[in-house]
Amino acid sequence: MQQTSEGHRLRSRTIGFVPTMGALHEGHISLIKRSKSENDITVVSIFVNPTQFGLNEDFDKYPKETDSDIQKLEEAGVDTLFMPDASNMYPDGFSSSITVGGLDSKLCGEFRPGHFSGVATVVCKLLNITRPARAYFGQKDFQQSVIIKRMAADLNIDCQIVVCPTIREGDGLAKSSRNSYLSAEQRAAALVIYRALNTGAEMIRAGEKDAGAVKKQMNDMLAAEPLVSEVQYASVYDPATLDELAEVKRETLLAVALRIGSTRLIDNMLVSL
Ligand code: PAJ
Repeated sequence: MQQTSEGHRLRSRTIGFVPTMGALHEGHISLIKRSKSENDITVVSIFVNPTQFGLNEDFDKYPKETDSDIQKLEEAGVDTLFMPDASNMYPDGFSSSITVGGLDSKLCGEFRPGHFSGVATVVCKLLNITRPARAYFGQKDFQQSVIIKRMAADLNIDCQIVVCPTIREGDGLAKSSRNSYLSAEQRAAALVIYRALNTGAEMIRAGEKDAGAVKKQMNDMLAAEPLVSEVQYASVYDPATLDELAEVKRETLLAVALRIGSTRLIDNMLVSL
């Protein structure tokens, strides 16, 4: 991969890079399209990174759809697929890790200790291997995108981090590889996330300034759905610092993480006034 990238750079071709964990859907494909429109070469990685999964998380059952993924990448016109093994990414003796302090303990960080360190470390490795001009991330994982931007700036990684809009199903559920864990009943219940985010956004657009009132409305809606087994967070945040807000700002992030059965789902919405 390093030699392939070096060859492109020597020919003055710009590289766009889309890191993924596979089980590709239209969210991933939208990042690839954006990369293709802005770069000469598009590289996609598929690597289910063990270090970003907690002990009781879904690493072992994370969907693997390599054949259909490859077909989707060919149809999308991707130039290179990078699919490393865990033993190559983390050989014996591997001992380094990147911590993006502060940002990594908020929101999902509280419920997934070590997760963002795993993400930051693997993304740093992938960027060093691929050395792209631009790398593409989805707003769906808002906190991840903020952390990667912070890491790239702090560590002088010479790559533009591009954040692309969340792609949704027709009814509003954010596309996610984890949606495949849901039964039909759970899939219908999951819509409550989009409804709660929309209701919060409408309150803000209608002039609500009290973030607590927005938070309460969102939490009431989520609590009313019997198949929601746990609400981890649902509130109003500063999109730059990820701190919870007492008062709505010009640019406000609404974000939700919850479980339906044992499946953990996240989503968010940015509201600008
Ligand atoms: P994965 O969940 O496969 O997501 C890969 C990229 O696709 C991420 O940038 C994610 O935000 C984006 N994405 C996922 N669903 C999306 C949607 N509905 N709309 C738009 N973009 C979406 O995120 C990871 O993998 C990993 O943490 C990774 C960055 C690859 C590091 O291991």
